[in-house]
Amino acid sequence: MTNFLKINKNIDSVVKYEAGISKIASNKRVIKLSSNEGAFGRSLKVKKVLKEYEKDIFRYPDPESNKLKEALAKRYKINKNNIVCGNGSDEILATIAKMFSKPGDEILYSEYGFLMYPIAAQLAGSKGIKVKDINYKNSLNNFFNSITKKTKIIFIANPNNPTGTYLNKDELNNFVKKIPKKILLVIDAAYAEYITKKDYSSGIDLVKKNKNVIMTRTFSKIYGLAGLRLGWAYCPKYIAEIFNKVRLPFNINSAAIESGVVAVNDRSFLIKSLKHNNYYLGWLTKEIVKLGLIPIPSVANFVLVKFPKEGRFSAKKVNSYLLSKGIILRTLASYNLDNYLRISIGTKEELKKLIKVLRIYFKKKI
Ligand SMILES: Cc1ncc(COP(=O)(O)O)c(C=O)c1O
Repeated sequence: MTNFLKINKNIDSVVKYEAGISKIASNKRVIKLSSNEGAFGRSLKVKKVLKEYEKDIFRYPDPESNKLKEALAKRYKINKNNIVCGNGSDEILATIAKMFSKPGDEILYSEYGFLMYPIAAQLAGSKGIKVKDINYKNSLNNFFNSITKKTKIIFIANPNNPTGTYLNKDELNNFVKKIPKKILLVIDAAYAEYITKKDYSSGIDLVKKNKNVIMTRTFSKIYGLAGLRLGWAYCPKYIAEIFNKVRLPFNINSAAIESGVVAVNDRSFLIKSLKHNNYYLGWLTKEIVKLGLIPIPSVANFVLVKFPKEGRFSAKKVNSYLLSKGIILRTLASYNLDNYLRISIGTKEELKKLIKVLRIYFKKKI
């Protein structure tokens, strides 16, 4: 349809974010393993606080999310004034792109990087530049070689979604030392809570040491609060100050603030979730191999799986079959990974059911 009014050229060309599907028309009960939401949902403590808080929702929320920032500052031993909160980390990523780039500038992200990065670049009117991965991993060499005079921002998810690979502390440290100081490095650590590797760092240490690094985090994954839309970032103070001018005044709703405080202090829920993830990440990876498929080794709460390009066992055919059984995985055509599916680590029952159904389809003994 032609537009009645002329729309800003940069905005008009934005490609809409395609979320994974969450419902199947014919099935009442679905197993949803498509969006990497935590296996256990929200904790019981969050359930309780939401019930108690309900009577206060007629009030405007604290525009500074002070309570939440204090909880995060205490938990991570960082300064409250260096924390910003967003309506999901998506809001923070998009706002950062608008704050630090403009038409004519370039923003780098990996070819299998999170889809919000090119969208954030488009929203800012900047040019998104795809950087080639090597073996499903962000290649810092390729990133470095893609830097031009126009480069303003580099988005790197660590660990990366949808591949599940990660960069270690030293790799990132050396990269920050090498890049020009006028380029902003955004380390998107949405899955940081899941990582048990000793050589992994979420990026907090890098933000402390540098004026051109931001680390973003989310409550959508291990904390199970995706529906409340809550993300945060740890950044140099001057960036926090600008961010707070640019964001909408009440970008974090009060239910999210209350839940976030409880979630970040609920250590036993976190430990339980982490234990579960460690065990079932290993289990699922082995089961995928037994099916004759190729899992990409992951450190997060999902596994990328490679399927044969064509025929009965292609990602497309297997996905249709799974949907007919009420099981939703993430298709990845929008990442140019047509013959892959991504599986989130769900509950024990969900994963056992998935493997049982797959074994029937692949004609393996059950
Ligand atoms: C790497 C990465 N960053 C950011 C996000 C967005 O998270 P939020 O729900 O906080 O917007 C996701 C969600 O899938 C993600 O995978």
